[in-house]
Amino acid sequence: MTTLALLGNEALRFTTDTIVGYVLRDDSGATPEKVNIIALSAACTHMGCLVQWHSADRTFHCPCHDGLFTEDGEVDKRSSLQPHLSPLPQLQTNVEEGRIYVRVPLSKDDSSFC
Ligand code: FES
Repeated sequence: MTTLALLGNEALRFTTDTIVGYVLRDDSGATPEKVNIIALSAACTHMGCLVQWHSADRTFHCPCHDGLFTEDGEVDKRSSLQPHLSPLPQLQTNVEEGRIYVRVPLSKDDSSFC
């Protein structure tokens, strides 16, 4: 899907037939030998609108009702909808020879990621 070299420090949005999501580096706990990658569904857990990455405050903003999520997909404590939100679903990732792979659902009804 992309490479570590191209990813940089911002969240990169991706779209497949079944999901819209983001991948970004997780520098917490990273070492020069190991880069951690986070992949998230972009579907807001309130009513499903697609969240947008804001690099200025490194959060995901929902344009529909002001939902707010941290860069690792947790509900931001500043969100007025905090009691009604769950974290953004994380997707499994794998890095092989500098290439980043994300496991995505095979169909829109598939709740198990393959
Ligand atoms: S759909 Fe995202 S806050 Fe309502």
